[in-house]
Amino acid sequence: MTDYIQEFFPTHSCFVIADDTVAGLYGNRLQQAFTDLQSFRGILEFPAGEASKNRQHKDALEDQLLVEKAGRDSLIIAMGGGVTGDMAGYIAATLHRGLPLIHLPTSLLAQVDSSVGGKVGINHPSGKNLIGAFYQPQAVFADMDFLKTLSDEEFFNGMGEVIKYAVILDDELWQILEDESAAIIDRDPVLLQEVVTRCAALKIQVVEADEKESSYRSILNYGHTVGHAIEQLGQYKLKHGFAIAAGMRIAAKLSESVLGYPASRVERLNKLLDTYHLNQVDYRDYNFEAIWECLKTDKKSRQQKPKFSLMNKDNQPELLYPIEKAELHDVFFGE
Ligand SMILES: NC(=O)c1ccc[n+]([C@@H]2O[C@H](COP(=O)([O-])OP(=O)(O)OC[C@H]3O[C@@H](n4cnc5c(N)ncnc54)[C@H](O)[C@@H]3O)[C@@H](O)[C@H]2O)c1
Repeated sequence: MTDYIQEFFPTHSCFVIADDTVAGLYGNRLQQAFTDLQSFRGILEFPAGEASKNRQHKDALEDQLLVEKAGRDSLIIAMGGGVTGDMAGYIAATLHRGLPLIHLPTSLLAQVDSSVGGKVGINHPSGKNLIGAFYQPQAVFADMDFLKTLSDEEFFNGMGEVIKYAVILDDELWQILEDESAAIIDRDPVLLQEVVTRCAALKIQVVEADEKESSYRSILNYGHTVGHAIEQLGQYKLKHGFAIAAGMRIAAKLSESVLGYPASRVERLNKLLDTYHLNQVDYRDYNFEAIWECLKTDKKSRQQKPKFSLMNKDNQPELLYPIEKAELHDVFFGE
């Protein structure tokens, strides 16, 4: 990464933004790697966790950057998980009307999902990611070494998104996840590199086709419709990957019942989610009416009619498919 910075941003002052956990784990290593980088100005920290992705912490980081004289010739490096990437990315998008941004994703979720695609932002007390922008980074450097210190919970959380890519876009990846599950769970770096590279490439391909989510990008919302409702009903205390795993289970069943998606694939998906410990959230533990109420205000709903990203009988994505309450009810309470 230092070679890249020296080549493309030789005169930019570099500011790294990281949460305190990641800064504690990797701050020294980063300082060492940056010793030859005259332009390095230090690591700006904030407390780890989703609760920090807010205006207060964004403001505090902006204040620090301005005190340190960050200008249009500054470079922001977001070192961390999705919270850091989203918040530092939003600061980069808006400070001085836009500073160059590099993502150094350290969680699996950030490597396969949040560092790619250009969505940046912060939460508002009335909802997640309500303040934000589309702002593409100059580069993303995903180093598998970071994943060694990730907790099991965070690792499996990221696997939820990995499985989603496999199911909607990449049969070969699906096979790898099945055949190599033990080694992947052991965090074999070669396999992880393969998995992360495939997922990032798939996301790039989707985002290039539809950056602003007019239609095709909604393919990435497979499992997210009910998944988001579960997150909302759980007051965002559940990890995203676990909620969308439950959402994928019901999306697959819906796909089978309304679009003829093969039952064998539904079964394979359920088994794969179990293998990667993504079975701790069950949609049946939630009230159906409460879920339906959340769905009516989902970002993909129109005139309060929920729309799902589903899979059809030919294993192809079916985007923004309108679902009636009775259809969801049947699969929700079905076997
Ligand atoms: N922009 C997008 O397109 C997009 C997509 C998906 C999710 N997101 C956002 O991403 C966020 C979730 O991301 P996340 O799951 O990475 O959360 P996170 O950034 O909070 O990271 C999870 C936890 O893991 C720790 N951590 C990160 N890397 C570590 C490492 N290498 N070793 C040990 N601990 C490490 C963090 O300190 C944190 O406590 C949410 O805010 C979500 O809205 C954004």
